[in-house]
Amino acid sequence: MDSRQAEKRIQNLRRDIQEHNRRYYRDDSPTVTDAEYDALMRELMDLEKQFPLLATPESPTQKVGAKPSEKFEKYRHALPMLSLGNAMNVEELRDFDARVKKRLELLPMESVEYFAEPKIDGLAVELVYENRKFSAAATRGDGGVGELITQNILTISADQIPRELPADAPDVLDVRGEVYMKKADFADLNARRDREGQPVFANPRNAAAGSLRQLDPKITAERPLSIFCYAVGRTGPMEFSSQEKCLKTLAAWGFAVNGAVKRCRGVESAAEYYSKTLEGRPALDYDIDGVVVKVNDFALQQSLGQVSRSPRWAIAVKFPAEQVETTVRDIEIQVGRTGALTPVAKLEPVFVGGVTVSSASLHNQDEIERLDVRVGDAVILQRAGDVIPEVVRVLIEKRPANAQPFSIPEAVQNKCPVCASDIQRLPGEVAYRCVGASCPAQIVEGVKHFASKGAANVDGLGDKIVRQLVENKMIASPADLYTLTRDQWASLERMAEKSADNMLAALEASKSMDLARFLYALGIRHVGEATARALADAFGSLNAVRAASVEKLADVPDIGAVVAASIRGFFDDPKNDEMVRRLEELGFAPAWEKQEQGRFAGMTFVLTGTLDTLKRSEAKQLILAQGAKAAGSVSKNTSVVVAGRDAGSKLSKARELGVEIWDEDRFIKELKE
Ligand code: IVH
Repeated sequence: MDSRQAEKRIQNLRRDIQEHNRRYYRDDSPTVTDAEYDALMRELMDLEKQFPLLATPESPTQKVGAKPSEKFEKYRHALPMLSLGNAMNVEELRDFDARVKKRLELLPMESVEYFAEPKIDGLAVELVYENRKFSAAATRGDGGVGELITQNILTISADQIPRELPADAPDVLDVRGEVYMKKADFADLNARRDREGQPVFANPRNAAAGSLRQLDPKITAERPLSIFCYAVGRTGPMEFSSQEKCLKTLAAWGFAVNGAVKRCRGVESAAEYYSKTLEGRPALDYDIDGVVVKVNDFALQQSLGQVSRSPRWAIAVKFPAEQVETTVRDIEIQVGRTGALTPVAKLEPVFVGGVTVSSASLHNQDEIERLDVRVGDAVILQRAGDVIPEVVRVLIEKRPANAQPFSIPEAVQNKCPVCASDIQRLPGEVAYRCVGASCPAQIVEGVKHFASKGAANVDGLGDKIVRQLVENKMIASPADLYTLTRDQWASLERMAEKSADNMLAALEASKSMDLARFLYALGIRHVGEATARALADAFGSLNAVRAASVEKLADVPDIGAVVAASIRGFFDDPKNDEMVRRLEELGFAPAWEKQEQGRFAGMTFVLTGTLDTLKRSEAKQLILAQGAKAAGSVSKNTSVVVAGRDAGSKLSKARELGVEIWDEDRFIKELKE
């Protein structure tokens, strides 16, 4: 890859990761699995390492989480809340150990004392104590500034979070920990929500995060939350000597501290802790997504220091996707959004990766043959992170004697099992497709996709509701959702009066979605969220996308001939064209602010002092030309202060806030790159 290609790819990765950060941290509703997210982050880190000149302090690799939501009052952490670097396996844990030893100037055969803990899958918070009284609590936010959630934290019982501390505690104390929901509490909460016709949470982490970030603490109080404390911020005049002592003291002061922790002499002992914890994971009554290995001694931690977003003295060792065994009860043929007939394994329900799974796509006949999966088979199922469950392999040794190889039935290969329209298999494609223009199954899936999180994000429009709407012929396209009356919504099963109002409000709000979401929502084949954003960036308006030739479309980075043809084909189809125009008539006017391009895209500069080579006005022009803003005063939002000779208060302010500072030479050098 040359540096131009790398720059493009890096820009795309940063934009996508930032969007995923917002969804995960701020909206509590991720749309990719943890594994997929980690892969994007890794690719970005590798590219920034390979092309160091393309690294900037604005990159998501240099930051923690997402900016706090506007909904809450903000809280600035006295000491920043850091994140952790990841190791994907024990090998990478050993690499970490080697780095630690090198920095501490130890010999390879010497061993470091570590402290190993389960990595709780929840939401990081800081609890603040003043004069030994609980005074405030905040989420991590972007690590520097979080959301003030004091009242919500008070819904967690005093036997986990003491309201007062004993006399030996310091005057000022910040305690950090992870708020989570126990698996059993999560199951109860979801069962209750299901009975009440409310949408269920996908997993305990989302339930915990969504509950903690409620504006109304009364709602939080109805959601059983728990906490494990694992670190401190300010500790007044007192100092802890090690992680082990710190946790022991926190426990003695009444904080909930995880008991399943271990002091480990050397990395192999930490590796063993990792394997044991992984083995014991299914039996825990809370979700964990790895273990955290920390250098135990605080003095050594201090000397190791940190790199931008994470300490050099700790690492999160992630677990592989959780796997469980279950049986295939049946294989059904379902019709998807694009008409593709998809074989789906109906499974004995099992709890895996934080949710109960009762079906898994088998994709197509080729995949069925590759797995040789049959009705009655025992299978290994895995669910990476939050999203799609998959059948990994069949346990042949457990196969019932009468199990027959499965092929998509002949009848289904000719007529759609839902609408009886013709079925086609295009040359070069594995999938069979229903060509029925008004196949109810396609409509249901299309509407669900339109309403999904990455698209219109209409909460509460789940499978059951959409099915009712289509079966009762109340809607035949996403646009029809916007013409239903309050009474029509309220007439649906599992819909209370209040949810009808919520639905109308959510639909109204969705009309202001941006162009990228809108293009994604349309459900054009091969247009995922990343492609939709690339289209929005390249064309800037719906009209421009709609009018673009196949050639113009294929000019967009990451869009090839097949995707370009699919987009053109979509808008050329009169039925689609009419649906899009109806959405516009209904009030959709998707807009797009192009992400600025350039060397300093998205950054904010402040110039101060006397420059020697450039005139101040020239410097300002150069900043603007590179896609950055030039501001007059220094704040936490400043990316770089360019300080010339005799710089004064702005320079001190920058130092105080930890804003990056360049001299004029550095500025010119960066511009030349
Ligand atoms: S220590 C500077 N210990 O994982 C290190 N973090 O990916 C501060 N987490 O932000 C964190 N369990 O939200 C630590 N036993 C544990 C943890 C833990 C979960 C979370 C925490 C942190 C994130 C990093």
